[in-house]
Amino acid sequence: MPSIRINGIQIEFDPGVTVLEAAQFLGIPIPTLCHDDGLKPYGACRLCMVEAGFPPRHRLQSACTLKVEEGLVVQTHSARVERARRLLLELYVATCPQSKTIQDLASRYGVRQVRLDPAFKDCIQCGKCVRMCAEQMMAGAIGFAHRGARREVTSPFRPQSEVCRQCGACLYICPVCELRCQGARPETTLCSGCINFSPSCLQYHDQAMCFLEPCAACELAGPLRLAGPLSKDRVWHKPEPPKQHGELL
Ligand code: SF4
Ligand code: SF4
Ligand code: FES
Repeated sequence: MPSIRINGIQIEFDPGVTVLEAAQFLGIPIPTLCHDDGLKPYGACRLCMVEAGFPPRHRLQSACTLKVEEGLVVQTHSARVERARRLLLELYVATCPQSKTIQDLASRYGVRQVRLDPAFKDCIQCGKCVRMCAEQMMAGAIGFAHRGARREVTSPFRPQSEVCRQCGACLYICPVCELRCQGARPETTLCSGCINFSPSCLQYHDQAMCFLEPCAACELAGPLRLAGPLSKDRVWHKPEPPKQHGELL
């Protein structure tokens, strides 16, 4: 069995296991957008990137498509990886600021500014809907059309595909087909509401149930959801400016 070193932990895995699966086995969180456990790896979003290679060489690679190999050394949260993830998330927020999934990820991974104009696109081309339709629904009713900037998923809402069963699975799995949270400043591109409230949701509500899960502020992972509406005695704190302004990859 290939033995790899991941964040300093030496461990063996069966051949064919991906670095993402290895990290998940060890409880190391790696953000993903185009990955789903029930679908084939696609490697589109690059959010799962890690530093990996055989010393002294290593480079940024997507963990969901990288298979374990004897001697592979992986860093999942190096400074370089974190910077690259924040930059990617900033780009995704600018592309689809209306996506709660993307806003939550941006908040969790410390994106504190968006330097691009919001595009409000309705697709990040993660391919989840296409794979869901083909691999789980066995319909193959949708797919990508065109190339480059014109590349798009042919929508099930266009002239009805004869093989679409209208099961809704493509909508269910899409990370963009959902409204963002209505946090403190929903009119801005970057929400970050969940990390800038004081008192925090759990301090404020007796039976807190938070729609912002995974919440970067409450430090209690789990199915907590906000039970009541936000009111005026809760204060939204303006986020601190980034410490390393302008530093990208
Ligand atoms: S609604 Fe139609 S296009 Fe969407 S997953 Fe179901 S069969 Fe496929
Ligand atoms: S429509 Fe949604 S699920 Fe399909 S590729 Fe675009 S972002 Fe991904
Ligand atoms: S989750 Fe690995 S590239 Fe998208």
